Amino acid sequence: MESLWQDTHQLEASPDELSPGDHYDTVVAGAGLTGLTTAVLLARSGQRVAVLEARRIGAVTTGGTTGKVSLLQGTVLSEIRRFHSDDVLRAYVEANREGQAWLRHFLEQNGVDVQERTAYTYATTPEGHQQLRDELAAARIAGLGARWAPQTELPFAVHGALELTGQAQIHSMEALGALVRELRERDGMIFEGVRLTDADSSSPVRIETTGGKLTADNLVLATGTPVLDRGGYFAKLLPLRSYLLAFRVPGEVPQGMYLSVDKPSRSLRLADVEGGQRLLVGGNGHIVGRGGSTRRRVEDLTHWTQRNFPGAQRTHAWSAQDYRTLNRVPFVGKLPRGGGHIWLATGFNKWGLSNAVAAALNLSGQILGGHMEWADTLGRRVTKPAGALEALRTNSSVAVHLAGGWLKGLANPADPPVGGGDVGRQGAKLVASTTSGGKACHVSGVCTHLGGVVAWNDAEQSWDCPLHGSRFAPDGAVLEGPATMPLQNLDT
Ligand SMILES: Cc1cc2nc3c(=O)[nH]c(=O)nc-3n(C[C@H](O)[C@H](O)[C@H](O)COP(=O)(O)OP(=O)(O)OC[C@H]3O[C@@H](n4cnc5c(N)ncnc54)[C@H](O)[C@@H]3O)c2cc1C
Ligand code: FES
Repeated sequence: MESLWQDTHQLEASPDELSPGDHYDTVVAGAGLTGLTTAVLLARSGQRVAVLEARRIGAVTTGGTTGKVSLLQGTVLSEIRRFHSDDVLRAYVEANREGQAWLRHFLEQNGVDVQERTAYTYATTPEGHQQLRDELAAARIAGLGARWAPQTELPFAVHGALELTGQAQIHSMEALGALVRELRERDGMIFEGVRLTDADSSSPVRIETTGGKLTADNLVLATGTPVLDRGGYFAKLLPLRSYLLAFRVPGEVPQGMYLSVDKPSRSLRLADVEGGQRLLVGGNGHIVGRGGSTRRRVEDLTHWTQRNFPGAQRTHAWSAQDYRTLNRVPFVGKLPRGGGHIWLATGFNKWGLSNAVAAALNLSGQILGGHMEWADTLGRRVTKPAGALEALRTNSSVAVHLAGGWLKGLANPADPPVGGGDVGRQGAKLVASTTSGGKACHVSGVCTHLGGVVAWNDAEQSWDCPLHGSRFAPDGAVLEGPATMPLQNLDT
């Protein structure tokens, strides 16, 4: 399922070839927004930088984003307030403000279109209205000029909406293209199709990849959820997948960027791409690998759009996932037991366009010996007791899925089976079987990360792990998530 961005702005494959044994000042794993921005910032300071990308540039979340660069972020601010002090809330907004400003300036300087828009968060129920009140209170504490919107452009009734003027929307692949251009100009290397598989905590860091070994003074894990996770971050992150559709719509369409607070969530924005204007509609999210048929979620979102925007014709449908920390603030800093030279950034909670850039500013600053006040406040944050309860709830649900999967030979004991792919027992083995492109494929049904039992994703034809969000192609190849090894292929 190719996104509108990937379809309308193809980046040339990187010509760089990895030479085993080479040494770099910094190696960055992951060529999404976090990795490429970090690489550019380090290259600007004169560092020799290489980026490893397991798939293609922008292949995962950045290529599948909605592309809103907004400080009004649904109910994120009131959620942060549940877990943290007002100082942490203010530091979070400051980090995002800086990330947003850097990205806008960078894109404008590089001739990439940035469209200024008003962002709206709206409610369709009285409960949602109360959430808006809480969000407005948090926004005021954080010094954000959000206010009640006198009206919206939505074609249905709402129970109120907040608005924040002066926000922005972008084409994410064009943004990555500009970062790649600057990195190349500064002699940075990008190795596509090369996966980081291991690294030790020595100095320099010894790095193993599918293309050979390298060494580096610093290694940055900008891999979405961190691979080589020695800090157990996978247990503190929720992998959230959701769906995005693009439509040609006749007649009037909202010009603002909209997000609902009620469930199932709905996200709207316009996009100007080759071939004309599109209305993007997102929503129907769930934890990766849980919740039954994903195809049905796509159909439901399509019907919702066609009901509310008569005559809407779907041109693209895709899906992506991002990771939410249990206390809502991203993890950015040194990887525990990484010898002080391995860094990570994760947990952007579907607001990575400003958070990823803030993380890149923070990491490159720390690597180069600087510091920012907001980064220090976020780094020292203490979570309120509500955070412990959230952790307990999340880890109990992971345990239920792990045990249930092994007992029944099903990934999701509570979910209805999904057609097209089956996990069944063959003796002691769990075998995941499907027919993809007319060819039967049999792979191990056990995730190579930590042994979760995978579930079939019928919208995207993939095997998805309900524990920490690893995803695999029908032949077992790793698509994304914390796993670095494929599912064992039982046909070869
Ligand atoms: C549906 C959806 C809509 C969203 N909409 C918005 C929005 O409107 N506004 C907003 O601010 N945010 C939004 N986000 C969030 C935002 O898009 C992400 O937070 C951001 O793009 C994350 O960037 P990243 O570079 O950290 O990760 P990614 O873009 O996923 O990049 C990580 C890269 O690492 C590579 N990789 C993984 N493992 C390895 C390995 N072992 N070795 C080498 N490479 C590896 C992957 O292939 C990938 O290319 C959305 C997210 C989703 C899921
Ligand atoms: S992603 Fe952790 S067990 Fe599958």
